Amino acid sequence: EKGGWSSFMAKEISEEPEAVAKTLLGRVADGSVHLSELDSIGDDALRSIDRIVIVGAGTANFTGMQAKYAIEKWTRVPVEVELSHEFRYRDPILTPNTLVVSTSQSGETMDTLMAVKYARENGARTLSICNTQGATIPRESDAVVYTHAGPEVAVASTKAFVAQVIALYLFGLHLAVVRGTLSKDEVAEIVTELNALPDKMATVLEQHDSIKQLAGWMADTRSVLFLGRHAGYPVALEGALKLKEIAYIHAEGFAAGELKHGPIALIEPGIPVFVVVPSPRDPNSLHKKVVSNIQEIRARGARILAIAEQGDAAVLPYADVVIPIPLASTLIEPLLAVIPLQIFALELASAKGLDVDQPRNLAKSVTVE
Ligand code: BG6
Repeated sequence: EKGGWSSFMAKEISEEPEAVAKTLLGRVADGSVHLSELDSIGDDALRSIDRIVIVGAGTANFTGMQAKYAIEKWTRVPVEVELSHEFRYRDPILTPNTLVVSTSQSGETMDTLMAVKYARENGARTLSICNTQGATIPRESDAVVYTHAGPEVAVASTKAFVAQVIALYLFGLHLAVVRGTLSKDEVAEIVTELNALPDKMATVLEQHDSIKQLAGWMADTRSVLFLGRHAGYPVALEGALKLKEIAYIHAEGFAAGELKHGPIALIEPGIPVFVVVPSPRDPNSLHKKVVSNIQEIRARGARILAIAEQGDAAVLPYADVVIPIPLASTLIEPLLAVIPLQIFALELASAKGLDVDQPRNLAKSVTVE
């Protein structure tokens, strides 16, 4: 079943281009987006939504964080992202114009299920993004958009992450079409980029062996930091989570701008720091700021592993290793940048002789609160 791969996780990472392609299939046509699954909510209701809350746990929380950048930009509807297990215990403000979107690979995570039930009982509308047909969470929701990543066996989520971000992006685009906040041309441009993503992901996957070597010489590392900014920030968090989950290494993700407000104190000679570098073409010009963050921590002895756009010459003088990713726009780039981080965690755990598919103390889906 592993199809020649050493683990399910390795196999599932290799399936990411397909997971994206299948999640897009039938939902993007003629440069536009339509999710018939949302018909059960209806266009009038979608137009009256004044707030979106995305709830999930673990990796499924980071997909919400990722999608917030896109959904707010495209729809101008405020998006909050919250851990599902925190959500219902703080008396959240819910109205019929609140849409609570849950993200769950399994569709069975009890914390997330209880958040959805709470949202419904308190008058909000609910949408489930789920990878498992007929699971409990979609059954408890007003509408469901399935990701089509295929069964995910490894406990650490990989292909479900990218498929979930794609489904949330499609939801954002559908909403933007219904609400008229993006022009036809703008939607078509994003759709073209989404359709090009699987091939770009495949070129990142070709670097598996070189990332494996990197992991090999870092097997004794005790702590790894991950920095990202804007849409690269959730990916930094996800990179750190993967390393904790399967390699049992202390890892933390930070927003690069936060560095000087605390985390820079952690920088000591030799500490590996992965940096998700925004594109030099980024319209927010965050590239320069992240490069200067790199310079600051390099001066304090950090070893820099930069995930940067192909041909980004500005990072070269300061990075110990550059992992190049293909050109993509700001909101798409994180879907490419996450792959090297997943491979790194997989290979570091393997180099330590650990069972990557069944890490200690964790379950694929947690059906208790
Ligand atoms: C955790 C899993 O218990 O649940 C994580 O170990 C996962 O890998 C999280 O991201 C959420 O799971 P689901 O099925 O709701 O996406």
